[in-house]
Amino acid sequence: MSEPRKILVTSALPYANGSIHLGHMLEYIQTDIWVRFQKHRGNQCIYVCADDAHGSAIMLRAEKEGITAQQLIDNVKAEHSADFAAFLVNFDNFHSTHSEENRELSTSIYLALRDKGHIATRSVTQYFDPEKGMFLADRFIKGTCPKCGTEDQYGDNCEKCGATYAPTELKNPRSAISGAVPVLKDSKHFFFKLPDFQAMLQTWTRSGTLQDAVANKIAEWLDSGLQEWDISRDAPYFGFEIPDEPGKYFYVWLDAPIGYMASFKNLCNRTPELDFDSFWNKNSTAELYHFIGKDIVNFHALFWPAMLEGAGYRKPTGINVHGYLTVNGQKMSKSRGTFIKARTYLDHLSPEYLRYYYAAKLSRGVDDLDLNLEDFVQKVNSDLVGKVVNIASRCAGFIHKGNAGVLVAENAAPELTEAFLAATPSIADAYEARDFARAMREIMALADRANAYIADKAPWALAKQEGKQDEVQAVCALGINLFRQLVILLKPVLPTLAADAEAFLNVAPLSWDDHKTLLANHQLNAFQPLITRIDPKAVEAMTEASKEDLASSEATAAPAGNGELSKDPLAAEIGFDAFAAVDLRIALIEKCEFVEGADKLLRLTLDIGDAKRNVFSGIKSAYPDPSKLEGRLTLYVANLAARKMKFGVSEGMVLAAGPGGEEIYLLSPDSGAKPGQRVK
Ligand code: MSP
Ligand code: ZN
Repeated sequence: MSEPRKILVTSALPYANGSIHLGHMLEYIQTDIWVRFQKHRGNQCIYVCADDAHGSAIMLRAEKEGITAQQLIDNVKAEHSADFAAFLVNFDNFHSTHSEENRELSTSIYLALRDKGHIATRSVTQYFDPEKGMFLADRFIKGTCPKCGTEDQYGDNCEKCGATYAPTELKNPRSAISGAVPVLKDSKHFFFKLPDFQAMLQTWTRSGTLQDAVANKIAEWLDSGLQEWDISRDAPYFGFEIPDEPGKYFYVWLDAPIGYMASFKNLCNRTPELDFDSFWNKNSTAELYHFIGKDIVNFHALFWPAMLEGAGYRKPTGINVHGYLTVNGQKMSKSRGTFIKARTYLDHLSPEYLRYYYAAKLSRGVDDLDLNLEDFVQKVNSDLVGKVVNIASRCAGFIHKGNAGVLVAENAAPELTEAFLAATPSIADAYEARDFARAMREIMALADRANAYIADKAPWALAKQEGKQDEVQAVCALGINLFRQLVILLKPVLPTLAADAEAFLNVAPLSWDDHKTLLANHQLNAFQPLITRIDPKAVEAMTEASKEDLASSEATAAPAGNGELSKDPLAAEIGFDAFAAVDLRIALIEKCEFVEGADKLLRLTLDIGDAKRNVFSGIKSAYPDPSKLEGRLTLYVANLAARKMKFGVSEGMVLAAGPGGEEIYLLSPDSGAKPGQRVK
């Protein structure tokens, strides 16, 4: 046996401002399968991740929700951790970039780079929102496309004509945060001198660290010359302050990859046998792999190795890049119900179905991968239920009935067990190379052979014949042994199925090398169904629920005060997340008027603190004199999708109770509440 390898593995750190969806899950499942395979083989493999908690988007979202950034990232971390655990993604540590370990490492790496002369400073002129008092990143500026004249385009590119430009070229620029007209302002910025590392990167990116397609893309960038990288942002910003530079913060992408180290450090701090330096020092013999999506290659294959080199650390052994997930052949779409959150999937389907489907489609390339929902049902049912589990369910009964659940020692078809043994190294190579699609194909080919053998011997027919009991037992014992082999091979993909199978087989947790042995004279436990078929209705329900995710606030609040509670209060129970997803605010009714041609509606103009909203509400029957409502505070659903009505667009909804008619009671807060305050 060769020495066990020492391997540190990461997945990209998910942003702490949104939920995990099935696109993200492609990456975490891919990484988890690879890590489990390494552990299964007896290597030391440590898998760390964290939430990527910094940046202005997170700061602004927390502000909008009326909570601190710390509260927001704590909530999101709890949500992310629960989703990952439910998908059986087995991190050794899931940390946060907003952590002490990361602050220390980011600071020391920056100082090392600065002391070696790799940091430059110069003044940068940028749009500034005078109302909000902050510099505006490109995506926080909107205006008219300078090329085609389409309004309401972002500061860096036009969605209509595809033009890219500088935000200063936009006509009619506006701050997307406050609506104010931005002004140009100078500020000192800090730059990481990436060109210092041109030669190193040229060699490193061609040394087997990258897939060919990725290395070729990087070569284009290297050939066109590297630019210095702006690593600072001005306050207000949620992140780490740059040492000795009050009011200047590290750009989120500077400390995000350092978050990999910080998560590992945090793990080392509570695991005495783990030594941080032996994984990260310049001469480390440990392997280091980052799994990422194709959109963040420049950060991982240029900036990151350069930072590590400059600060005196080792560089990654490999950057493993995957493509993007599409659903039913298209980009995930909220209106089609194919923008599926991890949690929505889990509400309807078991995680191992998706793990298997992704495995069956993942190869080592960077091509996009399609989750075709029909194919998903068909493939999982035919492979996992029809091929793998079927072997055990066909054989177990005869062994329990005919031999008290004991496997006989006779090997009824040594050529078959030999064939399984001979196929295993190639499957291991496929896992190692991240060609899970090939691994699954080869495993299913073995499952086909096992099924063909059993179909050929037909123990159900033999069992009815006189004097064939020994043969029945030999055939079925072999069937169970072949099933056990398949479980060993599939265990990195299907850990729960493997655990259930181990319970049925009455064996200790299986490891890869166990495939070299067979069970003989061995007592089984009772057979329990190990996996059930996917009901296509569950998939339909999942896509429906993904559509509802969008409209959920509409469903709970509309129409104002119809007074009906659900018949079954338990069925109407929602989780805290669903509740928290409703953005309830205090609103001041500034204006209230009749709507011409509408006999139930009033038009309300709401002051919600930082903005005004136009809302149509079906409460006219109870408020014949609309002016009486003016000046009153009420509750307002701020994140309800806007609805186009005959009379205009209704932006959100006010809350009222009562059966209807004259009995509609608009809800009000206690006095002292201020417009825009969030209901919690
Ligand atoms: N926070 C950064 C990563 C910092 S790593 C130091 C980020 N976060 S992310 O939440 O947007 O994405 C996390 C990972 O999920 C990335 O590797 C990204 O490529 C991947 N994916 C996000 N959407 C995806 C699909 N639709 N399909 C496949 N992978 C996707 O980027
Ligand atoms: Zn345009």
